Amino acid sequence: GDDTRIARISSAIRVIPDFPKPGILFQDITTLLLDPRAFRDSIDLFVERYKDKNISVVAGIEARGFIFGPPIALAIGAKFVPMRKPKKLPGEVISEEYSLEYGTDVMEMHVGAVQAGERALIVDDLIATGGTLCAAIRLLGYQSARKLFHDMDGGENRPKILERVGVDVVECACVIELPELKGRDRLGDKPLFVLING
Ligand code: PRP
Repeated sequence: GDDTRIARISSAIRVIPDFPKPGILFQDITTLLLDPRAFRDSIDLFVERYKDKNISVVAGIEARGFIFGPPIALAIGAKFVPMRKPKKLPGEVISEEYSLEYGTDVMEMHVGAVQAGERALIVDDLIATGGTLCAAIRLLGYQSARKLFHDMDGGENRPKILERVGVDVVECACVIELPELKGRDRLGDKPLFVLING
């Protein structure tokens, strides 16, 4: 049953103290990938949940969303769209800035990878503060005014949002949630589904 599979997944994830910095308890999914049965269990649990939900896009977040997203996408008959770190994608991109503990980061997606009205699932390995998933939700929902007005005015009064990309984010799915960081609360009305708590 589900409990057996969840237990197998949970025990296949290695927890490493003080990585990448002192005080961080790192959830290492590479050991889950070494256990084909547990890895398959994790994919199956997502596929069983999403197979009949009319999802046409699985958006995976770099880097570990690229491991879990594609097998889910193939199994449910959806396309896979990579949400990447800046300057990795060769085509025209739309981008979204988001804040980290120190500073900001940017997430990018190819223009034309998704169409308005499509139903998307966002996949990552882990939710901590929720900032990353939040950015992915915004990126799929809206096109950034900064990009569109790039050469047009540069003025102060330009609208923050010019045009909706208009993808309907059905749910966010992660293998692990760190509930103490309350990332779930940052996702607004977007549902979050996770397999285990770290
Ligand atoms: C980790 C994780 C998520 C993100 C979650 O990625 O894989 O993508 O952090 O954190 P948040 O909920 O606080 O936003 P990381 O920053 O380690 O990048 P990487 O996968 O490219 O190594």
